[in-house]
Order: sequence, then structure tokens, then C-alpha cells
Amino acid sequence: MDISALEREIVEADLSSPEAQQRFRQKFLKKGGVLDELFAKLRSLPQEQRKELGTQLNRLRALAQGRVEVAGSVENSPSTALSTDATFPRLTLSSGGRHPLSIVEERVIRLFQRLGYSLADGPEIEDDWHNFTALNFEPDHPARDMQDTFFINPSAGRLLRTHTSTVQVRVMEAMRPPIRILAPGRVYRHETISARAHVYFHQIEGLYIDTHVSAADLRATLEYFIRSFFGEKTRTRWRASYFPFTEMSAEVDIGCLICGGEGCPVCKYSGWVEVLGCGMVDPNVLTACGISPEAYRGFAFGLGVERITQLLFGIPDLRLFGQNNISFLESFRGYGYAL
Ligand code: DAH
Repeated sequence: MDISALEREIVEADLSSPEAQQRFRQKFLKKGGVLDELFAKLRSLPQEQRKELGTQLNRLRALAQGRVEVAGSVENSPSTALSTDATFPRLTLSSGGRHPLSIVEERVIRLFQRLGYSLADGPEIEDDWHNFTALNFEPDHPARDMQDTFFINPSAGRLLRTHTSTVQVRVMEAMRPPIRILAPGRVYRHETISARAHVYFHQIEGLYIDTHVSAADLRATLEYFIRSFFGEKTRTRWRASYFPFTEMSAEVDIGCLICGGEGCPVCKYSGWVEVLGCGMVDPNVLTACGISPEAYRGFAFGLGVERITQLLFGIPDLRLFGQNNISFLESFRGYGYAL
């Protein structure tokens, strides 16, 4: 007997009217129905076939019962009332979508994967070594202050990581060059929550270590990224900066996408917005992680995911990312992986 044909018949049967449901019940579930007869035949089969077929028949019976139950409940549900009661409130089914930060993170990852970067990960609960010391922070650097960092256990140096640069350290400790990684993740800072600041946000860290990595490579890589991400015509501005873990250090601004450079609240009327920090990895950091600064050089960069998401979509208030406001989230539904 053809179990799968029977199964198809059960799955595909039309149960849209009470009469059809009645016929279905008669055929499959009542005494004398198809399944009932098959169960009767079971008894005449040898032991080993009985078990196999018995399982199949039980499954079909459950399937048929399920179909009748669902059809019966749809019958009585408010959505049927819709067709007869024009005053009944509209019921909508909405599908989910991806969070804008995930959409953007995914896109950044894909752009760097084309350059041969792979993904790396690290814990959000960190220690002083990975968050500060190995990254060449002086013992009295202000970022080590309780005012900027959430400490879990200050005396044990346990803290919530303040940046994804911690993953640089972990990767260099674990791998030999050449290293080319991207590390996305959540970071925490002791800030007053406002439209521009939050106690947690997301960063993506990049690290490239090899024998001949130069500042020209750094510049070409990030210019490629910015143009691919924000558009071919995007203007960039490189500013000398300072980070304990890079020497030279730079910050990169792009021409404000909201006002086109004319000045608006987003760019604080300067026409430029900072999108990332970067630099050549400080030799002290290489040494701390067990990599010889004589043999290897590298660059690193860190970018804020909220920041570039705000710029890309014109989102004025950072707090929207964490509020689970359905209409805000639904406005990104169409993007999927297409961005
Ligand atoms: N860790 C820095 C921050 O949180 C961002 C950063 C700057 C990362 C320069 C880097 C870098 O790797 O080279 O503000």
C-alpha cells in the first residue's frame, strides 16, 4: 500500500467547508474508514512488518486528526467573522525582520570578507589585561576610571569591555601572523543615556598583521570600505589622533550624509562626521601579545556600528536601537540581505 500517496491525500484534502470536513472525517477517521481498515489488516502481518506499518499508520491518523482540528478552529475563529462582520477590527499577520544594526554589521563583514578577513570573537566580560594593559594604556589612563568603565569586580580587574580592541589582543595571543580578522561585538561604557550616548553599543574591530603592512595599506583598505559602504562619491577626511594602542593614530571623518556638508545637528554644523579610529599597531602591543615588532607590522581600526547605521539610514536618536519599538523596527523589514 502506498503510504506516501495516502499522506499526500490527507495533507492536500480540501477542508474549507463543514461538508468537506465531514467527508474527510468519514474517509479517514471513522470506523470503516481507510485507516481503520488498514489497522485491521495489520493483525494479519508478521511481527516485524507490523511494527513498521503500525508506526506509519499512527502518524497518518495524527496528521488527519490535526487537519480536522485546525480546520475546525479556523472555522470558528474571528478571521472568518471578518468576511461577514465589516466592523470587526482588522487582524494583520506581520513577519519579522532583521534589526538595522544586524543588517549593517552583516554588510560591513561582507565587504571585509572580500579582502580576505575572517571573523574573530571574544568575551564581553573581560579583564584589565585584555581591555587596557596589553593595549598599552598607562596605569593612570582616565579610561580605567570607574566613571568610564563598568567594573564587575574592581579588585580582581573584572570589567565589561569598553571596546572590541580586546579581541585584537586575544587573537594575537592565540595566532601567528599573517592575521587578518574582523571582530564585531557589543561594548559597554559608563555614560548618561541620551540621544547621542548609551551604556552599550556595538563596534567592529579590524586587525591586519604581516611582515610588510604599511600605513598606505591601511589608508587604501579604509577608503575602499568607506566608498563601498557609503557610496563612491563619499568624501573622507583623515585627522591625526591618539590611541594608546596605535602609533601613528588617525580618525576618519566623512562628509555628512544628512546635510551634504552644509551643516546640521548630526554633524554639529561642521559638515563632517567621524566614522572610525585607526592606526599602525603600537610595537608595545605586539610585544605584549608575543609577536616580534622587528619581524611584523600591522594596522588596526575600530568603527561604531550605531554611528554608521545612523548615518546610513538618517536615524536621529541612538536610543531607538534598543527600545524594541515595533514600527521603527518594521521600517527596516525590506532590507534583508540585499543592502
Ligand atoms: N578602541 C577604540 C575606541 O573604542 C577604537 C579604535 C581606534 C580601535 C583605533 C582601533 C584603532 O583598533 O586602531 O574608541
